[in-house]
Amino acid sequence: MSKTLIAPSLLAADFGNLQRDVEMVNASEADWHHIDVMDGVFVPNISYGMPVLKAIQQHATKPLDVHLMIVDPDRYIEEFARLGAAHLTVHYEACPHLHRTLQAIKSHGMKAGVAINPHTNVQLLEDTIKDIDIVIIMSVNPGFGGQSFIENTYDKIKSLKALITKKNASTLIEIDGGVTTNNAQKLVDAGADILVAGSFVFKSQDPQATIKALKG
Ligand code: DX5
Ligand code: ZN
Repeated sequence: MSKTLIAPSLLAADFGNLQRDVEMVNASEADWHHIDVMDGVFVPNISYGMPVLKAIQQHATKPLDVHLMIVDPDRYIEEFARLGAAHLTVHYEACPHLHRTLQAIKSHGMKAGVAINPHTNVQLLEDTIKDIDIVIIMSVNPGFGGQSFIENTYDKIKSLKALITKKNASTLIEIDGGVTTNNAQKLVDAGADILVAGSFVFKSQDPQATIKALKG
């Protein structure tokens, strides 16, 4: 059985030592670099944008998993492709023309992801699931690292897995927010393919050992 994919979230990195932290992820068993872009409108926080992504890209050796928490993401699809994003995830709640947005992401050579907030029902993805490479189920309300995991996430993973099977889709399920070694195995058992972890990795004594432990 293949191991769970781990995507450490650089939101919890030490930005004064960003190169060091990116290289830590490079040398670890992590699979992707998870990059959270927030605009202060879709979510009540501003993280970082293109210049920082460019700096990350110059040092990162693993695929860049870019999670856009911004309104009207269509404006920036081309730019994120140019900056080396391998996966570009937009929020369901920010996309009135989601199908068009997904096609645009793919036409720029990236995997297309859709993130859903804790209140968004997975059944709303029924008509687009075959066009979605990755669904990020938010297990906290987006905007900040270090929040507590929402327990309802397990039921959402199971419903999404059933939907993917019913539609014969090959979509991967990624979980983002409050992931630790206390819930990692249960998330995988419910059907998660990828786990994002920010503070649990970067605030730990030995981040590389923490990544290894999350992988199971
Ligand atoms: C939250 C972000 C997450 C965040 C996770 O809005 O999408 O990726 O960095 O952080 P932790 O793992 O600390 O909950
Ligand atoms: Zn994220």
